[in-house]
Amino acid sequence: MKVSVSSSFCRGASRIAFAFSSEKKPALDIEREYSGHLPALAKRHFSGGLGETACVNGIIFTGLGKLGDFSPRYVRRALTSGISAAKAQQLDKVDIDCTSLDLHSARNAAYSAGMLSFEFTRFKSGGKREGVRQELSIVASKGHLGAVRDALECSKSINYVREICNTPGNIATPLFMENEVRKVAKAHRLQFKVLDEKGMRKERLNALLSVGQGSAHPPKMPIIEYRVRGARKTVLVVGKGITFDSGGISLKPSKGMEEMKFDKSGACAVLGIMCEVGRIRPKANVIGVIPCAENMPSGSASRPGDIVKAFNGKTVEIINTDAEGRLILADAIAYAEKKYRPDYIIDLATLTGAASVALGSYASALLSNDDGLAGLMLEASGSSFDEVWQLPLWDEYSEMMKSKVADVKNVSGTGEAGTITGAAFIQNFVSKAKWAHLDIASTAYRAKPIPPVDSGATGAGVSITVEFIRKIAAL
Ligand code: BES
Ligand code: MN
Ligand code: ZN
Repeated sequence: MKVSVSSSFCRGASRIAFAFSSEKKPALDIEREYSGHLPALAKRHFSGGLGETACVNGIIFTGLGKLGDFSPRYVRRALTSGISAAKAQQLDKVDIDCTSLDLHSARNAAYSAGMLSFEFTRFKSGGKREGVRQELSIVASKGHLGAVRDALECSKSINYVREICNTPGNIATPLFMENEVRKVAKAHRLQFKVLDEKGMRKERLNALLSVGQGSAHPPKMPIIEYRVRGARKTVLVVGKGITFDSGGISLKPSKGMEEMKFDKSGACAVLGIMCEVGRIRPKANVIGVIPCAENMPSGSASRPGDIVKAFNGKTVEIINTDAEGRLILADAIAYAEKKYRPDYIIDLATLTGAASVALGSYASALLSNDDGLAGLMLEASGSSFDEVWQLPLWDEYSEMMKSKVADVKNVSGTGEAGTITGAAFIQNFVSKAKWAHLDIASTAYRAKPIPPVDSGATGAGVSITVEFIRKIAAL
């Protein structure tokens, strides 16, 4: 599938048009453009419900639901239905009429078309087997063209994230991740560094080391730096890179364990964020830190009850070796904050199954030690393709993480407030910076399709973080 952006319709192309369900108020400007088709539409009982489609005289109408309930994210659902209807009818050249959509809705359409063009075929013998070679053109009003093109570019970075993230643990090892970071740095002229096992020992990143010590693949912590003259702020972006999470000695049940190849989603998101940063070149320094390890059970693995001294000097009692993400983030954050003195730290992690329990697959959890930053992240979410929902981070939750024998323990042991206590643990390793934590365990991958993603990795967390960086650079 080829996707492009244009300000004009193409002769001979089929068309997808958006329509609202209210009969008195058909789609934004559908009356003007498509009034001739409305009687036919009515005959076919097309009600314009979200995800509903109808094809009339070569135009595929796709429903956005009621105008009063509208949210730009519905464009993602509507366009996904519209494009699959076009596919079913073997339409190979399709214009997507976004000319009467608001800017953010048009950006959502471009993002969706970009996302829908992704297929993970790397491991299919015989390569790609496409039914129809589709060419999609996002037709937007002139004033929207730049931003709409940008949204399409963003979807390309996100598709790269999905490609890496879908790659299984036997191939995507910590060393593989290091090499990907190196490639991104080279492609975008960014600085690259890496802390290997020896360096971690020297710098005393013992919490990170403890997670990796059971694996045949040693941990790596690649760092990728974007610096700009006249930068107003420095943002540190840290991504959880567990290339496979078996749970370690606190072994996970085998059902669904294969999904734990996605436990590097945060790390992959940082790769995509740095691609975007390299492309946009904002007026803020951005440092990507990507702690990578494989969590495996073995004779050298860490055990429940072990106590380690983390980089910042705090001692951690490891109650459960399956709460490993917070351990690698603890050291990565503390180390990088000391080294880079950022104003803001954003971490992205598939940290807790509890995030899905709380939010389903429709939003990531947002937690922060600073209300101003949380507000900026919520705003960034509004102009991105990521939905987030904030959870509280009160002292009471931090108290749940105190250990009897060490400074802190890695799980509360109560089974309550899993997403919050995970964040409360990490907070111990943030010193002065304003910090926001995105628990993307709910959104980073899926078994079932949620438009515009069919299955597998979604690239969650990239677009909100890029929007945040844009905001900070513009302030
Ligand atoms: N990687 C998992 C979290 C996860 C679970 C992500 C399911 C996606 C789907 C994380 O390392 C983990 O195992 N968390 C534990 C924490 C618990 C031991 C406190 C969890 O969520 O069960
Ligand atoms: Mn785990
Ligand atoms: Zn994990």
